Amino acid sequence: MKLTVIGCGYLGATHAAAMAELGHQVLGMDIDPDKVAALNAGRAPFFERGLDELLAKHTASGQLRFTTSYAEAAAFADLHFIGVGTPQKPGEMAYDLTHLFSAARQLAPRLTGPAVIVGKCTVPVGTAPQVIDILREFAPAGDQVEVCWNPEFLRESYAVEDTLHPDRIVLGFTGENTRAESVIRQAYGRIIESGTPVIVTDLATSELVKSAANAFLATKISFINAMAEVCETSGADVQLLAEALGHDARIGRRGMRPGLGFGGGCLPKDIRGFMARAGELGADQALTFLREVDTINNRRRERMVDLAREQCNGVINGKNITVWGAAFKPDTDDIRDSPALAVAQKLHQLGATVTVFDPKALDNARKAHPQLEYADHPIEAADNADLLLHLTEWLEFTRLDPKAIAARVAAPRVIDGRGTLDPARWRAAGWAYRALGRP
Ligand code: UDX
Repeated sequence: MKLTVIGCGYLGATHAAAMAELGHQVLGMDIDPDKVAALNAGRAPFFERGLDELLAKHTASGQLRFTTSYAEAAAFADLHFIGVGTPQKPGEMAYDLTHLFSAARQLAPRLTGPAVIVGKCTVPVGTAPQVIDILREFAPAGDQVEVCWNPEFLRESYAVEDTLHPDRIVLGFTGENTRAESVIRQAYGRIIESGTPVIVTDLATSELVKSAANAFLATKISFINAMAEVCETSGADVQLLAEALGHDARIGRRGMRPGLGFGGGCLPKDIRGFMARAGELGADQALTFLREVDTINNRRRERMVDLAREQCNGVINGKNITVWGAAFKPDTDDIRDSPALAVAQKLHQLGATVTVFDPKALDNARKAHPQLEYADHPIEAADNADLLLHLTEWLEFTRLDPKAIAARVAAPRVIDGRGTLDPARWRAAGWAYRALGRP
């Protein structure tokens, strides 16, 4: 099939490459010429495992191309996926839907024949009908333009895998569609044939699935981090607690890793956007618990700063502190709302000299936080440190030799914010080891 993907960020670029991998002819469209140039050269403008390989393969084969032109996109196909960003409005809890409405507004006048528009971005419930209104108002093809809402559940760092092998496909329709369902089922044919469940819903439910899923995931993380707070005051160990709880299949271990909490471009903004929307709908009481989820999450960052102060004998000012990790989670270079950088920045404000190392996110961190120091190697970053903080759980940190690092620091004190360093190994190498939620 021929199709386009409008908006080529984490979601759109991955979707475009994955659709080409499924055998389709794909034109990706983005208004950012630099992004389009990189993608046409077979490179993602961000790090995502396996994506560069797919981009290189399919831009070379001619199956995948990128453009900045809406006219070209509209002429290329009659199936258009929309994957533009829906960030949080600055200073507000609600979503900024400018990019989405602008994409619909730009595409609409160029839709002269039957077309299917598939919304993939995360939106507050009730947005899809607004997109339909724009399309109906400005598209010459009028009601021959049909809309499907198809939320995307991909995790960064597993984006390619999650796109090609999703847990489920959710498709929301108006109820009056004639072609949309068969067109989208055909586009996802290979995924559906492999046994992936398809759940067909009304538009509102399809939008809500994504908000509800992210609210649940965030709640699960904050739940175990609230337990970490109780562990800290009672001498219990949250890592063992999580393991023991996880064996109950109703609870489950996945997505329940205690630590410095969640960040990134999705969970924080999605729970806030969800609360804002519930408020507008008069259902705000239903989601007041998400405020607590957000608060617990932010309290982990504060607790890390307090522990750091404690380890520095009450004075952070003037100390050399090494931070391992800048990305919001491992295997990505994404630093949006990164818990690690939030802690690094706070310690800098309190007068520490903070030296950051991250395997992939250093360039992005340098641009966003030029006031921090950076090192190109994790051990070099620890030179002369009064305190080492492990804040993003890259696998390579667990493989480093604590003895070799102890020889370089001013004081062998480490705080494990993610619970993945082996306390016995670090203590045996002479380190004073502390961790969130552990005795
Ligand atoms: C998330 C959802 O998982 C995904 O389904 C949705 O489409 C977008 O938002 P992502 O932002 O890529 O995906 O990250 P995820 O792997 O869910 O992690 C989010 C944050 O929570 C990270 O900061 C991570 O370190 C933290 N986290 C995750 C925990 O602290 N504990 C966990 O058990 C899981």
